[in-house]
Amino acid sequence: MNQILITGGLGYIGSHTVVELIKTGYHPIVIDNLSESPIEVKDRIEKIVGREITFRQVELCDRAAVDAVFEEFPDISGVIHFAAFLVVNESVEAPLKYYHNNLLSTVNLLQSMEAHGIRNIVFSSSCTVYGTPENPHVDENAPVQAAESPYGNTKKMGEEILRDTAATRTVDVLSLRYFNPIGAHPTSIIGEFQDGEPHHLVPYITETAIGKRTELKVFGSDYDTRDGSCIRDYIHVIDIAKAHILAVQHLIDGKTKGYDVINLGSGNGSTVLEMINAFERATGIAIPYSLAPRRTGDVPAVYANIAKAESVLNWTPEKTLEDMLRDAWNFEQSLTQKH
Ligand code: WQD
Repeated sequence: MNQILITGGLGYIGSHTVVELIKTGYHPIVIDNLSESPIEVKDRIEKIVGREITFRQVELCDRAAVDAVFEEFPDISGVIHFAAFLVVNESVEAPLKYYHNNLLSTVNLLQSMEAHGIRNIVFSSSCTVYGTPENPHVDENAPVQAAESPYGNTKKMGEEILRDTAATRTVDVLSLRYFNPIGAHPTSIIGEFQDGEPHHLVPYITETAIGKRTELKVFGSDYDTRDGSCIRDYIHVIDIAKAHILAVQHLIDGKTKGYDVINLGSGNGSTVLEMINAFERATGIAIPYSLAPRRTGDVPAVYANIAKAESVLNWTPEKTLEDMLRDAWNFEQSLTQKH
């Protein structure tokens, strides 16, 4: 009952979920094609949990490789599907790379699950499916809008593939729509590893704080928000990880039949300038920044209504913004120290 397959298990949210699963008594079967994460992340997870994890290097776009996993591990009771390419601007330059990888991997996984009688799947989706919402405080009934990028479109299409497959009653699905996951494990042994210049706000802040970057550019200060900069809903990666465990157990217990979606956020919105101030309060480090033009595709304001996650999953985020920023900063500092 406790074997859970984790695709993309060496990624940022995947690795934190693997740690939480083991802490909660589950046996994660971790697969990853190592295209985005180094095998070193497996060693780091093992260092935290104090034992070897079950890992296989698997390319989800290879159907036979996916079948081999379910043949080797016939007792898998649920799947958490993280594996995907996720860099928004890269997806604009290479849309077919994103459609091929993100969609074919999902189709292969579902076909193999059907062939092996595995019913339960939790899908890593994103608030990006809401586009620019009418009301920035979005609940799950907010309309899904045209995607702002091929990456966002693969999340929207991924949800549709899962919804249509669930309608044939072969699988039961929860799509979890993340807002802005940030932070790192309190040990600093795992976190959001960066490959080159950071795309996201918080890694850019921590790299500026440690001196890797000279200043932070605030993309846009003329939005219709309380201080002119964009509003987002930042949520600790550990809280996100814990929600995945509740979600997969909810499916194993048969509490959701068919398809459903759930927002995962803190429920609060913070502007970019407020995040800079929050970082300074949490760490005592002032961040040099300049006001720059808007970034194409940015949504002015979006933050989560999390009432459904609380009622359906009995999940409430525990970590504060200060926890998130302090853990992110500690992880950044650990990258320049030897473990
Ligand atoms: C946050 C805010 C930027 C960098 C992305 C994905 C989304 C999801 C979460 C996967 C924005 C501003 C940023 C900088 C800045 N990923 N910013 N200077 O774009 O909200 O969401 O990550 O599910 O799908 O799109 O996150 O961290 O890039 O930006 O001012 O150097 O910070 O303009 O307002 P985003 P982000």
